[in-house]
Amino acid sequence: MAKIIDGKKISDDIKETVKQEVLALNSKGILVGLAVVIVGDNQASRVYVNSKKKACETLGIHSTEYALKAETSQAELLELVDELNNNPDINGILVQLPLPSHIDEKKIIESISPIKDVDAFHAANVGKIMIGDYDFLPCTPAGCMELIRSTGVNISGKTCVVVGRSNIVGKPMAMLLLHESGTVTICHSRTTNLTEMCKTADILVAAVGKAKIITAEMVKEGAIVIDVGMNRDENGKLCGDVDFDEVSKVAGYITPVPGGVGPMTIATLMKNTVIAAKMQESMK
Ligand code: GUN
Repeated sequence: MAKIIDGKKISDDIKETVKQEVLALNSKGILVGLAVVIVGDNQASRVYVNSKKKACETLGIHSTEYALKAETSQAELLELVDELNNNPDINGILVQLPLPSHIDEKKIIESISPIKDVDAFHAANVGKIMIGDYDFLPCTPAGCMELIRSTGVNISGKTCVVVGRSNIVGKPMAMLLLHESGTVTICHSRTTNLTEMCKTADILVAAVGKAKIITAEMVKEGAIVIDVGMNRDENGKLCGDVDFDEVSKVAGYITPVPGGVGPMTIATLMKNTVIAAKMQESMK
């Protein structure tokens, strides 16, 4: 049976460090502030945003929520981002995705000041990650890396397969594994031999968004399996992209859903907000 990687515990440790850093900044008269922007009433986004706000509260980070109605125009949202870019009390800006379809996500992301882009979605930050010289790491991939590191397995030289090619997870995840000298393959919806590809993986990261698409026959014995998915199964129960019950009989290490990657995304966001505050302080 696979060892379960406890994302809750690992994220709690990271948050404790962040809390101490916030206290140290506060003692020098520096406050840390995060703006959380949500547009419309996407249920999943609401849950994520609430968790992010709650984490801020526990760590002494001031969070300000901007909940905008679904009909908000792109121009209005751009105006808000501009205001937040220029607000010295705000160190980090998080615009929860997805945005309503009449808003061009790319335009919004590119309007966020790169030094406040705690998601690391801006092209300037993505470029920095690509060359390995970055300020912020994207929250979910960075969280996955911590989970992999927690196993004590050295990534160098390992066969890594990332399933999913999104800008938020798949692509940056592959890059972070490559920085650690993994041999990396990205699979996606057009991959013709997904089972064979996955089966080669010493480290398998599933970021597809399809309930239980990764089955036991796709997993190498002893592999590290990281499940980024957050789906509902046929009974409406929360589940990942990995068939946990079956895959945990084959894998060496596996992350649960919930309690795996999810809390790590939030812990990294908190970490990034403190990095942003320190960066901005040093620029004063
Ligand atoms: N939507 C899903 N994941 C994320 C994330 O990490 N950040 C933002 N801003 N939106 C998301």
